[in-house]
Amino acid sequence: MSWVLFMTVTKVAVLTEENVDEGIIKEAGKILRTGGLVAFPTETVYGLGGDALQKESSEKIYRAKGRPSDNPLIVHICRWEAVEKIAKEIPPEAEVLAENFWPGPLTMILKKSETVPAETTGGLSTVAIRMPQNKIALALIDAAGGYVAAPSANVSGKPSPTMAEHVEEDLEGKIEMILDGGTVGIGLESTIVDLTEGRPVILRPGYITKEMLEAVLKAEVDVDKTLLEADSGQAPRAPGMKYRHYAPKGEMTVVFGQVRDVTCTIQGLVREKMLAGEKVGVICTEETKDFYSADFVVSAGTGTDEEMIARRLYGILRQFDRDEVTYIYSEAFSDRGIGQAVMNRLLKAAGYHMIET
Ligand code: TXA
Ligand code: MG
Repeated sequence: MSWVLFMTVTKVAVLTEENVDEGIIKEAGKILRTGGLVAFPTETVYGLGGDALQKESSEKIYRAKGRPSDNPLIVHICRWEAVEKIAKEIPPEAEVLAENFWPGPLTMILKKSETVPAETTGGLSTVAIRMPQNKIALALIDAAGGYVAAPSANVSGKPSPTMAEHVEEDLEGKIEMILDGGTVGIGLESTIVDLTEGRPVILRPGYITKEMLEAVLKAEVDVDKTLLEADSGQAPRAPGMKYRHYAPKGEMTVVFGQVRDVTCTIQGLVREKMLAGEKVGVICTEETKDFYSADFVVSAGTGTDEEMIARRLYGILRQFDRDEVTYIYSEAFSDRGIGQAVMNRLLKAAGYHMIET
């Protein structure tokens, strides 16, 4: 048998949120209901969707991504009633969070019901649930029957896709369809909060911050210890966080300190590596970009615009991979608001390789 037999023709359809094409959504929904895979935009990153209630679909997702099957998937829904079907012992906090943040960039971990196959949850007795905000995503979930398992639509080890072109780069020929809804708004994956063990715990920081959750719950929210340190010696509670997910090809270092010290340190390292024949990229801000001279100097945005930096980060890392950059130096950014999530992803990408000046 030839490998060509296993290739799938990937159809790419362009849609807009303002005017979601019903014909395309119907076609995509049918692909999902009959066990195929469709990548779609959400407000955070692109997802690789399969029917969450068919175990074969989840297995296909793992194969297409090259992802270990013990890493559970998020089930995407489009109405609250779906939670009652796939989760049990739903705590009152879940309703409060849904009222305030759904549809939106928040994923909740709840106890799973029998309806969800173990393949979808990586064998766990809990299930991750999210109602995304993107209208194309919501229409697709509805057309698919209401339960779409979707990890980020990248192959394992690459940054999550923030544009359909990134999805094509990774999954062309491996999935049936890609819905191209343009560039996503947020650019980093959803906040994950675990509601299964008494006090809510953030397992992955995102656009919805600890302070935002605490304000509506009127209670304290914890942060998973493994997120705060490079090596806490403990396994993270979101299995996916243990993998070095967002790794660029080049060796990456994040430099902390006062602006002057950071720019001097980075430029010194850039010079040294370039003299050694390496291809070097710098990630910086509008305010500092003129201080550098390297093969690639990329501004992620104004230093005080954490949302812009979040939106651009993964695209910059992907471009560095395409350009075969061998060393990457990034300034440490503000950790205000979504900046917390930016720094979490940046440090993960760097394998916690950092310099304090
Ligand atoms: O913004 C997002 O959440 C995107 C879009 C497509 O919705 N999805 C996404 O999925 O980032 P993925 O599979 O790349 O990341 C899901 C994370 C993984 O770290 C996984 O281990 C964790 O969620 N997770 C899923 N189910 C879980 C569970 N039952 N308990 C703990 N962690 C879970
Ligand atoms: Mg992912």
